[in-house]
Amino acid sequence: MRQSDIMSNAMKPAAAAGTLRLGDLIVNRMAFGAMRVAGPDIWGEPKDRAAMRKLLARAFDLGHTFFDTADSYGPEVSETLIAEALHPYPSELVIGTKGGLVRPSRHRWDEDGRPEHLRRALDGSLKRLRLERIDLYQFHAPDPRIPFAESVGTLAELQRAGKIRHLGVSNVTVKQLDEARRIAPIVSVQNEYNIENRTDDDVLAACEKAGIAFIPWFPLGAGRALRSSKVKRIAAKLGATPAQVAIAWLLARSPWTLPIPGTSSFAHLEENAAAAALRLAPEDLAALG
Ligand SMILES: NC(=O)c1ccc[n+]([C@@H]2O[C@H](COP(=O)([O-])OP(=O)(O)OC[C@H]3O[C@@H](n4cnc5c(N)ncnc54)[C@H](OP(=O)(O)O)[C@@H]3O)[C@@H](O)[C@H]2O)c1
Repeated sequence: MRQSDIMSNAMKPAAAAGTLRLGDLIVNRMAFGAMRVAGPDIWGEPKDRAAMRKLLARAFDLGHTFFDTADSYGPEVSETLIAEALHPYPSELVIGTKGGLVRPSRHRWDEDGRPEHLRRALDGSLKRLRLERIDLYQFHAPDPRIPFAESVGTLAELQRAGKIRHLGVSNVTVKQLDEARRIAPIVSVQNEYNIENRTDDDVLAACEKAGIAFIPWFPLGAGRALRSSKVKRIAAKLGATPAQVAIAWLLARSPWTLPIPGTSSFAHLEENAAAAALRLAPEDLAALG
């Protein structure tokens, strides 16, 4: 990144939460989940493609330098729109995509961790994103039919072949994270986690210990965390919105969290980016439990 880019990046709203390292890449900790630019149920095209392209461009302008996507979002729609909106990519933008889930129909998200599928999936993402190498490729979810080591081993091979810069895993247990780390360097874990669902506290702790990023998906509980009375109470006290408190809580939870709130709304995008500057006092954190 040029010095002038570093300066202008630092002044953007999403930069207020500081940065995090993904291998040798540095991203702003307030990141963007690009799943919801696809159509309803993350299936097919959005109603207004041009608006979603503008939303993605705006997300970058606000200082989100990490975008999370997957081949299964649409499927293919989110990756295609990211390329249409932002290619050629600014040097500070890091795109993390995922492979290992397929969508035979609108409501299905089926695991497919077969080596031949992962090879094809990665090639498809490279093509749609117009890249020769994916900065962060995440194995979307362990496939119960395929040994986990076989899926991760395939991605490690593809990394050695130069198609992947850094590897991440998603929807894993601590045991699976340990297993993946014995196969290849893993720079991130993406699991469901938010103020109302802390089931994976042990995985977050394992990431902290390993010094790798923890990317909480459903950071707003897909909207549910915003209805929590304690979140609403602290939001009212601080003159913030419930979404901003839910994001600020994740940022305060650990220096290793990289929240990726998702939205298809310009107003919510601006609101969420502004949460990067919200600091929760110890008494507010205590009240949030
Ligand atoms: N690894 C995995 O298995 C996995 C699974 C699911 C998701 N993900 C990733 O996680 C990212 C985030 O997940 P997500 O989008 O499902 O859930 P989320 O960020 O927890 O919540 C998004 C939902 O909340 C709404 N919302 C966003 N900002 C809001 C605000 N300020 N006020 C009120 N409502 C707001 C959105 O609706 P509007 O569009 O109306 O704003 C949307 O319905 C996804 O983009 C994807 O990259 C990964």
